[in-house]
Amino acid sequence: MFEENAFLGVDMPDLKDKIQNLKNEFEVDLKNVSNLRELDDLKIKYLGKKSLVTDLLGQIKNFSVEEKKEFGPLINQFKIEADNSIEEAKAQIIFKQTQSENFKKQNFDVSAYQPNITTGTLHPLTQIVREVEDIFISMGYEVIDGPEVESEEYNFEALNVPKDHPARDMQDTFWLDIPGMVLRTQTSSMQVHAMRNKSLPLAVISPGKVFRQESTDATHDYVFMQCEGMLIDENVNISNLFATLQTFLKTLFKTDSLDIRIRPGFFPFVEPGFEIDMRCPFCKNGCSVCKRSTWIELFPGGMIHPNVLRINGIDPEKYSGFAFGFGLTRLAMLKYNIDDIRLFYGGNIKFLNQF
Ligand code: DAH
Repeated sequence: MFEENAFLGVDMPDLKDKIQNLKNEFEVDLKNVSNLRELDDLKIKYLGKKSLVTDLLGQIKNFSVEEKKEFGPLINQFKIEADNSIEEAKAQIIFKQTQSENFKKQNFDVSAYQPNITTGTLHPLTQIVREVEDIFISMGYEVIDGPEVESEEYNFEALNVPKDHPARDMQDTFWLDIPGMVLRTQTSSMQVHAMRNKSLPLAVISPGKVFRQESTDATHDYVFMQCEGMLIDENVNISNLFATLQTFLKTLFKTDSLDIRIRPGFFPFVEPGFEIDMRCPFCKNGCSVCKRSTWIELFPGGMIHPNVLRINGIDPEKYSGFAFGFGLTRLAMLKYNIDDIRLFYGGNIKFLNQF
């Protein structure tokens, strides 16, 4: 609009033009103002500390007497008029705002269509994963993540399950077109990643999806979630495993009394191996979830087989460790009282809304 200190070195007739131009520009700018913030900006621009008007007023003392007579009132007049116009505009803006707010209130239609706004929640599996992670992190474990497309070596061989081992039949594998690659059948493959990539001692858990080729029913699906856990150090023993799992379950189910039982179990990567079961919370005499047994298999686990340590570069003479791998999906079923595993990926909004 104008250069700073425009008065300096300006001929007096020019000054008259300048003030007139300033008036014109001010009027145009004022017309374009539509809210209080813009009005404030306008005031700063024309009457603020760095405005031409303030500059001129500061220099009036240097004017000759005639100039003071001629230009002093002109400058002052602009200042007063601009100030008044701004106040008027302000009152008008406030009036319009109040008017439109009142109008909105008066025309409030109680029967108007209101879209149904629902708030999303975390999927129950996400919730259980976070809860499990929190508990293990509080016990000093690290959470690790790994691939769902896995090599046969990591899924089987490095876990002491050679090609001709009958234990391979325990898990019906989805084989991929890529030679030597599978959809991991167990998160135990993460044990291999941890043993080969981490330094000792180590304590990790790894929740994730696993895949098995099997027909579905209330307790089986071809994709479900497991959580692997493993701790390796010097002098690790079975009671460390039991204490860890017990602490975990008590914290998860927020109870001091947990009806659990321990049975021997076979898994090629642990020796000895165990199954830890929990009393079925859905029934007294047997139901479809517990397969009429009143017990729910919860935790397979055991002491890591020396072969597994050796295969993965750890000296079994010096180190020992425990491992466990439980069904996270199954745990979510127990915790949230869900009696059909197929509900998790069914996408039924009524089911999901409950969480
Ligand atoms: N990976 C086994 C399965 O899917 C479960 C398992 C058993 C994991 C024993 C372990 C373990 O870490 O020690 O059936």
